[in-house]
Amino acid sequence: MFSLIILTMCGIVGYVGTSPALIVLLEGLERLEYRGYDSAGVALIENGRLHVDKKVGKIRELVRSLWGKELKAMTGIGHTRWATHGEVCELNAHPHTSCSGDFALVHNGIVENYRELKQKLESLGIEYKSQTDTEAIVHLIDLNYEGDLLKAVLKTIKSLKGAYAFAVISTREPNRIVAVRYGSPLVVGVGKNENFIASDIPALLPFTREVIPLDDGEVVDLRPDGLFIYDFEGNLLTKEVMHVPWDIISAEKGGFKHFMLKEIFEQPRTLGDTIRGYISRDIILPFSLRDFRRVVVVACGTSYHAGLVGKYWIEKYTRVPVEVAYASEIRYADMPVGENDLVLAISQSGETADTRFSALAMKEKGATLLSIVNVMGSALDRESDHTLYTHAGPEIGVAATKTFTAQMAVLFALSVNQSESAQEKMENLLKVPHLVEEVLSKSEKVKELALKYANSTDFLYLGRFLNYPIALEGALKLKEISYIHAEGYPAGEMKHGPIALIDEKTPTVALAPRDRVYEKMLSNIEEVLARKGKVIGVGFEGDETLRKVCTHTIEIPQVDEDMTPFLTILPLQLFAYYIADYLGLDVDQPRNLAKTVTVE
Ligand code: AGP
Repeated sequence: MFSLIILTMCGIVGYVGTSPALIVLLEGLERLEYRGYDSAGVALIENGRLHVDKKVGKIRELVRSLWGKELKAMTGIGHTRWATHGEVCELNAHPHTSCSGDFALVHNGIVENYRELKQKLESLGIEYKSQTDTEAIVHLIDLNYEGDLLKAVLKTIKSLKGAYAFAVISTREPNRIVAVRYGSPLVVGVGKNENFIASDIPALLPFTREVIPLDDGEVVDLRPDGLFIYDFEGNLLTKEVMHVPWDIISAEKGGFKHFMLKEIFEQPRTLGDTIRGYISRDIILPFSLRDFRRVVVVACGTSYHAGLVGKYWIEKYTRVPVEVAYASEIRYADMPVGENDLVLAISQSGETADTRFSALAMKEKGATLLSIVNVMGSALDRESDHTLYTHAGPEIGVAATKTFTAQMAVLFALSVNQSESAQEKMENLLKVPHLVEEVLSKSEKVKELALKYANSTDFLYLGRFLNYPIALEGALKLKEISYIHAEGYPAGEMKHGPIALIDEKTPTVALAPRDRVYEKMLSNIEEVLARKGKVIGVGFEGDETLRKVCTHTIEIPQVDEDMTPFLTILPLQLFAYYIADYLGLDVDQPRNLAKTVTVE
């Protein structure tokens, strides 16, 4: 028999209170849809018995199967499952129930020793129904139960290895949910005569904005009239309730066809909000980057690209050398790090496993950990010595857009903070939101080009210097939402290999604002044209040379070279969006992707 490893970026929702739980669960699960999932399910305690419904596919399938069932239960848990390996089927969907049928559990993460646990359970005569690691937890809780759900959970977690978050309910104590966080995110929602649990804040926003993010190694005991948080030894903890400043509207589409489009168009505001937080020269940090011998940036995906842009600014304004590393690579690389190093971890979610654990490993070796995160109260936020927030609000589209420009804004403010020209540079940054608005107002031109090239199967994105990371980011956007092969490359490096890809069917997007490498960029564009490639040039307004050279141009306002990445990225975000939408693809939840990657 083959075994499955179920890796999860799943969604968890739980409710215990005085209203029908099902409404909360379904609404909460819908708000977690952006995480990506393949099946969904709920478990409710209805008239002293467990009622479990699970369906493969979208949440609407689950809603259909619940249609007409009058479920008034006031305690329940729900789940969206996202599997990377193995079968997607109802049997493997959550919630999972225990041998006695009295316990139901939803889980996010991996129980690494589940095979061993499963063997032990089977040797005790317990019939294992699914192919998941999750089922082991619920059987163990059932076996360990001696009249107190909390105690059974505390005993069970001692035998689990891996990273996980789970929530469990039992008919033996119908008004109670016990949930655990260990490596996967979990947030408690605090209500009046009702309490909630969810893997992410947007699931809670329709019901409460008072939240307690759990830390790794914490267990919450939720009842309608109170909640208690313990460590794994069962010691009671005191935690602060946080108020979430986002409103529910900012977590909804606001009239746009997709969250991604809404988030692209939100950038004038989100950049303004972020920049306003960093206007004063002194408020940023209690230290200067110059106090360190080196800055090591760790991040993944889009956040990594922001780090690459940040490297140019930090080195220019502080003269401190910067290394930018993929978190997943550096984690196992034995890099010499110590007290003189500043680790700068960049993460929208603050929950990305690779970023967190590589940064924490360096912190353990004595480095200072500074993070740039969007989600306040996220694991990385709490684990860092200092945090700088991007005030971009919740980002729902799987493809990061507004958080990328917000990350760059924080990086720029951080770079110029202690420099002589800080005021002048920040004034340049303050003009960016307005310029972004101007670029976005010309989205129709980008749409036209997107439709013209939507059927191409390969793209090349070229840039140099500050716009090389933008070429990488533009290519990533196209790949992830339109599934079209795109390669981002430093334009000057192209002649060392990738130029062989150029032909009349492979369009090139070339970033050529008038900066210090403009002339070099023009030569690289000529190299593409000479090989019959079509070139979409992104450059400054009124640049006649660029207009003459390129097949098409997209123009952005003239700005200081430092500010160009804020503007050149916008047409690339729109270009990817319009192509994906034209191809009829699921823009906000692209195949195979999850918003937050909490597994290695
Ligand atoms: C970006 O569009 C991607 N969805 C992905 O590369 C993302 O940036 C990466 O997973 C890092 O996420 P984080 O910023 O939340 O750590």
